[in-house]
Amino acid sequence: MNAVSTLAPQPITDEEVRAALDTAVAQVRRNLPTFTYSAQNHSSVGNVYPAVANDQWTAGFWPGEIWLAFEHTGEKLFRYAAQIQVQSFLHRIENRIETDHHDMGFLYSPSCIAAWKLVGDEDGRKAALLAADQLIERYQPVGGFIQAWGRKGNPNEYRYIIDCLLNLPLLYWATRETGDEKYREIALTHARTTLAHSVRPDDSTYHTFYMDPETGAPVRGATKQGYSDDSFWARGQAWGIAGMALSYRYERLPAYREAFERLLGFYLNRLPSDLVPYWDLIFTEGSDEPRDSSSASIVACGLLEMAELVEAGDAARYRDLARRMMKSLTDRYAVKDPTLSNGLVLHGTYSKKTPHNTCRGEGVDECVSWGDYYYMEALTRLSRNWSSYW
Ligand code: GLY
Repeated sequence: MNAVSTLAPQPITDEEVRAALDTAVAQVRRNLPTFTYSAQNHSSVGNVYPAVANDQWTAGFWPGEIWLAFEHTGEKLFRYAAQIQVQSFLHRIENRIETDHHDMGFLYSPSCIAAWKLVGDEDGRKAALLAADQLIERYQPVGGFIQAWGRKGNPNEYRYIIDCLLNLPLLYWATRETGDEKYREIALTHARTTLAHSVRPDDSTYHTFYMDPETGAPVRGATKQGYSDDSFWARGQAWGIAGMALSYRYERLPAYREAFERLLGFYLNRLPSDLVPYWDLIFTEGSDEPRDSSSASIVACGLLEMAELVEAGDAARYRDLARRMMKSLTDRYAVKDPTLSNGLVLHGTYSKKTPHNTCRGEGVDECVSWGDYYYMEALTRLSRNWSSYW
C-alpha cells in the first residue's frame, strides 16, 4: 500500500465518528415516515430519494441503515421499522419479485440477516435462506461462477461481475445456519474464479467477465458501468477491495490478501487528494467529472474488515487510511442540511452513460442508497466492536 499524500485529510477522531453517526441517525429517523412501508429508490433525484416499490437490487441498504440506527441508539422505533421491512423482503422472495439475478446478498444481508442476528427475527432468517437458494440457482458449474444477469445459460449473458463478491457472505451464512456445505462451496468457487480472471496485470479490475459456456474458459472482460471496457470503474475497484477482504475472512487464501493490497495500491494511486475518487479512476486530480463518494465508503469498510484479520502493523495502516477517508466524507460530502436532501452522503454516481458503456445513465452526482449504507457501516465499525451483517 502506498503512502497517502501529505495533503490528505487527517484521521477522523472518535468524537467526530460519534457526531457523524448521530447526524446520520437523525436523518434516518426523519426518513422513517416516508420509507417504513416503501423502499428507497436506488439513487436520489435532485438529492431527494423518492419512495418506490421493493423491486430494485438496492432495496436492502435502507433497512440496513435502520438496523445500524437501532444498534447506535437501542431504540425500539428503529427495530419495529426494520422488521416491517423484513416482511416486505419475505414477500418479495416468496413471490420471486425481481429476484432472478445475483444481487441476493446485497438485498438480504443488511435487511434480513441483520434482523436475525440482532433480534432473532425468524422471518428474516427464512427470507435470507430462500434468497440463498435463489442465488445458487444461478451458479454455472461450467466456468465456476454465479451468472449475474439475464436468462441462465444464455451465451450472451454468460458472465459474472466483480460486485458479486459482496453477495457471497449470504452463502457462507446459509451454510453456517443449515450445515449444508453446498452454499459455501459455490461461494468459494465463485471467489476463486473472480480472483483468477477479474484482476488485470496492472492491478485494476474488470467490471464484468465473460466465460465460454461450452468449455468454461475465460473469454474477456467488459464494462457495464465504467467509462469503457479498458477503464477503471471506481466502484468496481471498491467492490473488489471490500470483496477480497470478505473472501479472506471466509477462506484464508494468501492470494486474496495479495489481491486486496494490489487493488488498494492501484486505487490509492488514482485518488485525488481528498481521497474520494472520480466515478472512474481514469479521471484524476483536477477533473470536472463527477465523484463517486460511495466508492470511498465501500473501501473504508473493506479496510476495516481486513484490519480485523491481519497482524497489528497492517491493521493500523488500514485503520488509519479508513479514518482519513471517513474524515473527508463526513466533512466534505455528508449531508449537512436536511432541508436540501433526505440522503446521507452527496456526490455518488450510480451509472454514467458514455459512448463506450452499456448503462442507462442514472443517479449521476446524487446520493446513492449503498453509499449511505456503507458510510454508516464504516462509522459503526469505527464506533464499536461491530458484529457484521455480511
Ligand atoms: N452493483 C451495481 C453497482 O454497484 O452499481
